[in-house]
Amino acid sequence: MLGTAAGGGLPQWNCGCAGCTTARRTGAARTQDCLAVSADGAAWYLVNASPDLRGQLLAAPELAPAPGSRETPLRGALLTSAELDHTLGLLTLREAAALTVHATLPVRYALHAGFPVGPLLAPYTKARWHTLTPGQAVELDGGLRAEPLALGDKRPRYAADLPGEGWEGRSDWVVGYRFTAAGSRSCAVYAPGLAAWTPAVEAAVTGADVVILDGTFSTDDELAGRTGGARTSRGMGHLAVRDSLPHLARLPGPRYLYTHLNNTNPLAHPGSPGTEAPARDLAAAGAAVAEDGMLIEL
Ligand code: MLT
Ligand code: MN
Ligand code: ZN
Repeated sequence: MLGTAAGGGLPQWNCGCAGCTTARRTGAARTQDCLAVSADGAAWYLVNASPDLRGQLLAAPELAPAPGSRETPLRGALLTSAELDHTLGLLTLREAAALTVHATLPVRYALHAGFPVGPLLAPYTKARWHTLTPGQAVELDGGLRAEPLALGDKRPRYAADLPGEGWEGRSDWVVGYRFTAAGSRSCAVYAPGLAAWTPAVEAAVTGADVVILDGTFSTDDELAGRTGGARTSRGMGHLAVRDSLPHLARLPGPRYLYTHLNNTNPLAHPGSPGTEAPARDLAAAGAAVAEDGMLIEL
């Protein structure tokens, strides 16, 4: 787990709330949502490229280049959305000799037309873009298999008014992944943006060893309560922890971890006042909050 915070991170640069202030004082920070995954421990793939990517890569010894060379263990990146907190880091990878990016069609479109990372990277590195289709697994280096799972039609704000037909309402603006490894029965599901608990989500989670899911908000009205605005968690494409937790409790078996925690979420601040009850609810369902730097071996 390279990073476990939602956009803005923890502390957020312009936020002086109790949680951000404590994080500033204690150093209990979270960087923005990003994962590295490998089937053989040698070939690694990023899942998302956060704005904090440079520091995240430097903090992970597994991702260091071979001594005396520029050979990186990173073989590419898979995107779960075109949101800025998942894609700004692609520009940080421009020093790479080559860069392979896997994304769904609407995400590729947004990264060409709205936030033109594709054209921006082209003069710097040999970027190769591959289109992912939900339900169709791709075979990656090191025996890694990634099956994209359509999770939602919420598009980034910068892509709200892009020209062209057919982008509205597509369920693959946001995806998750079901990862398996050749010659192994191990399975990990990664879904940092989960709009609703659908039968497809339920099927993907069933039989998984570890499920890492959307922990942006603790409750549907969390953000409205903090900011006085009207935006609900669900309206922003994030199923609140309180609303996914009953499903986890119903489906015991996998290890459940919540990630992409917003700085308003009390679960992002373990031990601070008011976090005891929600933490107890999590533990009762066999779930926990992911932490930056966590290494999960299956
Ligand atoms: C989200 O997860 O909903 C987005 O990343 C929000 C944002 O930071 O724009
Ligand atoms: Mn986000
Ligand atoms: Zn804050």
